[in-house]
Amino acid sequence: MSEAKKTATLTIDGASYELPIHSPTCGPDVLDIRKLYGQAGVFTYDPGFTSTASCESTITYIDGEEGVLTHRGYPIGDLAGKSHYLEVCYLLLYGTLPTATELETFETTITRHTMLHEQMATFFRGFRRDAHPMAIMVGVVGAMSAFYHDSTDINDPLQREIASHRLIAKMPTIAAMAYKYTIGQPFVSPRNDLDYASNFLRMCFAVPAEDYEVNPILSRAMDRIFTLHADHEQNASTSTVRLASSSGANPFACIAAGIACLWGPAHGGANQACLEMLKEIGSVDRIPEFIARAKDKSDPFRLMGFGHRVYKNMDPRATVMKQSADEVLELLGVDDNPLLQVASELERIALSDPYFKEKKLFPNVDFYSGIILEAMGFPTSMFTPIFAMSRTVGWISQWKEQLSDPGHKIGRPRQLYLGEDVRAYTDIENR
Ligand code: CMC
Repeated sequence: MSEAKKTATLTIDGASYELPIHSPTCGPDVLDIRKLYGQAGVFTYDPGFTSTASCESTITYIDGEEGVLTHRGYPIGDLAGKSHYLEVCYLLLYGTLPTATELETFETTITRHTMLHEQMATFFRGFRRDAHPMAIMVGVVGAMSAFYHDSTDINDPLQREIASHRLIAKMPTIAAMAYKYTIGQPFVSPRNDLDYASNFLRMCFAVPAEDYEVNPILSRAMDRIFTLHADHEQNASTSTVRLASSSGANPFACIAAGIACLWGPAHGGANQACLEMLKEIGSVDRIPEFIARAKDKSDPFRLMGFGHRVYKNMDPRATVMKQSADEVLELLGVDDNPLLQVASELERIALSDPYFKEKKLFPNVDFYSGIILEAMGFPTSMFTPIFAMSRTVGWISQWKEQLSDPGHKIGRPRQLYLGEDVRAYTDIENR
């Protein structure tokens, strides 16, 4: 923990308490209230954690007002444009960009861990064919702790390292198998001569009767989608992973918890919900009706892919995603794609609408990703699994960081209790 150079004074009923203030490398100062309950006997109240820093971290920084996202100090635009997913994985996990030799070793390690224990294929067959692939992923990733006993000891740094590599390597295989299972096609094994993104595309789209020739432009676009989703600071699923891990749970159980949290439509499920919304809108002339619904407080409808807890400016990931959507659709010869037309016009109208301007609601990463994924041939149900596999490295990096902090504690929030005070039990005949 950084040394506090400033303090704030809190006065309650005439008694004063000095609270240390920590100054981060970037971003607002952080008031340290860890000793507050012990000293003053009060809790703080912050449902939704809108003003709470839950941990120290050196991995990712977001300036929501300026629309800035950096990983280990490198802007996301540079990483998406100049780097690639496995290099970003290395950066997130180890804190520095790899040398050529380090990258080669890392890529080889990940590539050599992509196969799943053969018995896991049997495990998939226990699911209904119409299961959502996210349901399968929550189950299968949780079940990895039953297959890989030699990497569940969180106190052994080597086992932690092996679990990290296994999760990053096997997640595309699991996501692709979940997809193949739900469409009734045989599983396609990973191939070690392909890069991470190409291998995933092939595992999804090849069939025994016909191999899948990976288009390098699509593979690059896929890799960029992975990179843009790799980590995002203490979001809901990452905080879920950290909370699950705080009890000492094994890494596979923690990542399964993160996948479950990601599934919700306010978080990673928004990419599926967004594309379904664009389809429901269907044509540019229906946009005003949906804008009106989004602004109507009596209607639960929200513009999916819009708004963010932290960004009060354009999500920098959305800017790259839109460029990528244009490139992919042009390559596929579908640049007159009606969904892209609806999305572009919806963005234009919303950004000039006083409601969205006043509330600082901008397109987020999920607004354009679905258009690219659908153009590549993925069904909407695969959008969130792709987010989950991309985010695995972020979850794992945050998990490793948490475990290497000697001061880490079990996460145990308190509450503002508004229920009944202690009362006498009434026998059933007297109620
Ligand atoms: N459409 C219409 N109104 C909205 C929207 C939206 N998409 N998002 C927020 N608002 C309004 C909301 O009604 C509220 O109005 P008021 O102050 O009058 O009550 C105000 O803006 C603030 O919203 P909030 O729900 O208090 O903000 P939050 O920080 O708790 O929620 C959010 C953030 C992302 C859950 C929310 O913006 C949302 O539901 N967006 C749609 C879902 C979505 O795209 N999620 C993906 C987020 S990015 C990727 C990820 O994290 O996984």
